[in-house]
Amino acid sequence: MNNASVDPQASSADAFSQPRPANPFTPRADLKIWLDGELVPAGEASISVFDHGLLYGDGIFEGIRIYGGRIFRESEHLDRLFESAKAIRLTIPMTHEELSTAMREAMGANGITEDGYVRLVVTRGVGSLGISIEKTACPSVFVIADKIALYPPEVYERGLRCIISSFSRNHPNTTSPRVKSLNYLNNVLAKAEARDLGADEAIMLTVDGYVSECTGDNIFLVRDGELHTPPTSMGILEGITRNLVMELARNRGIAVHEVVLIRHDLCVADECFGTGTAAEIVPITRIDGRDVGDGAPGPITRQLTQDFIDYRTTA
Ligand SMILES: Cc1ncc(COP(=O)(O)O)c(C=O)c1O
Repeated sequence: MNNASVDPQASSADAFSQPRPANPFTPRADLKIWLDGELVPAGEASISVFDHGLLYGDGIFEGIRIYGGRIFRESEHLDRLFESAKAIRLTIPMTHEELSTAMREAMGANGITEDGYVRLVVTRGVGSLGISIEKTACPSVFVIADKIALYPPEVYERGLRCIISSFSRNHPNTTSPRVKSLNYLNNVLAKAEARDLGADEAIMLTVDGYVSECTGDNIFLVRDGELHTPPTSMGILEGITRNLVMELARNRGIAVHEVVLIRHDLCVADECFGTGTAAEIVPITRIDGRDVGDGAPGPITRQLTQDFIDYRTTA
């Protein structure tokens, strides 16, 4: 930019030469955010522009479901948060119990007494410019407690149409995919690529070309009545829904194989589905222009979905 053309009298309202599009999302006016110990109206809940979570994606999070007013698989989520923190050398300034209380306060302030969703975020905190972790002293913690519906009901009836993305999942020697970090850019770009190609979701491969997971869900295939899913050593998030689905399948006597999968396995699967806290169990019925099986959600996907629904209401 040529600085000579900048009018020093111009107000900040003139800073954008194009009108800015309206924001497609506005939080509910009465939503309250738990932010560093305070319940703050959503419109006022903000993080500093000097927070390294924003400047460098330096932070971690969890997405957690609330069913029947209970925090689903709470200890598993909190354990994973602390493991992510350890991996990125972040000291969470709160205990498990304090985080649990914070989530309950956020739920209470927002009337989440039945089903809902909690986003629990820990950022590296405010620091001077420069990526060094010594430049920050105090991580920030916030909790958003609200409702969620990731996909409309018809998606669960027809299944997701997926592409195999040209963006790889992180190599385990970069930030491990087992860290649920604030840097999701590969996944963001894979999802955008899927949308560009008219698909709903992207399946990501490892840098070596093996199947890893979807952009926000783990992936399962069904072949000859048995489940196949990549092992965590492939470089995937160790999904809490994934672990539960494997347990539910084994309870039904369905064999589960954690194995290396290649693109061809996706092509010849009888059924395929994704698992995640937000999506729960979502059928995948088309991959790269080919039907999975007969192109409709299969019987094992439907059975496990029912088992999951039964489990979540009683757990
Ligand atoms: C990349 C990725 N994989 C898998 C999952 C599913 O994990 P979970 O079942 O713990 O929500 C998520 C969801 O958070 C995710 O972001």
